[in-house]
Amino acid sequence: MLDDIKKRLGQITNPATGKNFNEENRWQDIRMDGAKLVAQYNRDGISPAEKRVIEGEIQKALDGIVGVENIMVKTTSTQSQDVFKALDQKPTPAQKVPVETQPAQIKAGHGTVGNKKSVPGVGKVIAIGSGKGGVGKSTFTANLAMSLSKKGYKVGVIDADIYGPSLPMIFGKRDEKPRSNSEKKIIPVEAFGIKFMSFGFFINEQDPVIWRGPMLGGVISQFLFDVDWNGTDYLLIDLPPGTGDIQLSMVQNAHVDGTIIVSTPQDIALLDAKKGLEMFKKLNLPVIGMVENMSSFICNHCGTEHHIFGEGGVSHAVPALGVDLLGQIPLEIELRTGSDNGVPYMSQDAFEGRPVWKGFMDVAGKVENFFGGGIAPQPSKPGLFSKMFGLGK
Ligand SMILES: Nc1ncnc2c1ncn2[C@@H]1O[C@H](COP(=O)(O)OP(=O)(O)O)[C@@H](O)[C@H]1O
Ligand SMILES: [Mg+2]
Repeated sequence: MLDDIKKRLGQITNPATGKNFNEENRWQDIRMDGAKLVAQYNRDGISPAEKRVIEGEIQKALDGIVGVENIMVKTTSTQSQDVFKALDQKPTPAQKVPVETQPAQIKAGHGTVGNKKSVPGVGKVIAIGSGKGGVGKSTFTANLAMSLSKKGYKVGVIDADIYGPSLPMIFGKRDEKPRSNSEKKIIPVEAFGIKFMSFGFFINEQDPVIWRGPMLGGVISQFLFDVDWNGTDYLLIDLPPGTGDIQLSMVQNAHVDGTIIVSTPQDIALLDAKKGLEMFKKLNLPVIGMVENMSSFICNHCGTEHHIFGEGGVSHAVPALGVDLLGQIPLEIELRTGSDNGVPYMSQDAFEGRPVWKGFMDVAGKVENFFGGGIAPQPSKPGLFSKMFGLGK
């Protein structure tokens, strides 16, 4: 059995390099201690986020051979700064090389990649990311929610952006305080038929936000699993901008069915967007596609289309990236004012048929197609998927 285990562990890929552990000679010790498997590897050059990916890989490789509760993985490193980079701290002299880090015990339900939980009562979970802030990710998320809702789906949104939670503003619910029901589940706030939950409800807008990664993982987990999302067809997650540890830890607990990257046409934003795409791919999350926001500006007076940030940056890039372009959303003043005033653009029927409106409906249609045909609906869920398949009560 030990030989089999060694063979399997040797095949694990180091996400930092793409090579396997045997090729890199990473394993220092693999042995059985009674029923427990003790394994130790050298984690030089491996970030905390990549380490968590590896933990998930280990768990997957040993599935059916060694139970999760019997796996103990230790790591050693001669580069202590790796460990502290994520915490933004300098190593103290007492933590000189080589460092034997804390034994990392893999436990069920504690956020390892191989151990994802489905969000109860939800049809499909879609994470929406961007390489950087200010590309219109929240505006997009809120209006995609409205567009899917227009198609008849029940939609929920989690605003996981701790740096700038903006959904309470966009949905006109800044002063709301969420309550919990008799089963101690948090009841999502509802506006325009969309249920949503936001960090914004729990923090003072004036306070600097200094949440730490591990705490954040806990809160997002609460938003996913302790909120009553029952009957939701699509649950959209507005992730914080960027591709670091926080984003990774947020999506690795839950079963995510699809991801969308929002980008603007400028090269820099696109470079960042590529990183976002890589992050989702590394986590083996299905990518639905990319959205180009602020693709052009259509003049209210003359109707001419101006490509302020260059033409078609995202559409030129997507073939090489191997993803679909889901839609292009032009710049329109009413899209911003709608968000600022708490009346989302796609809730205002007067805009029907405009290029922005069309852009959002295009994306909603592509999302629908992505999941269309043969989705097994969850029998417990009285949302549209269930109704469509005649399972809802
Ligand atoms: N297509 C667009 N047309 C006009 N304004 C937009 C558009 N997309 C986003 N905005 C505005 O740009 C600003 C940043 O958008 P936001 O959604 O908050 O970005 P992010 O969530 O990526 O940080 C907001 O004021 C928003 O109203
Ligand atoms: Mg935002």
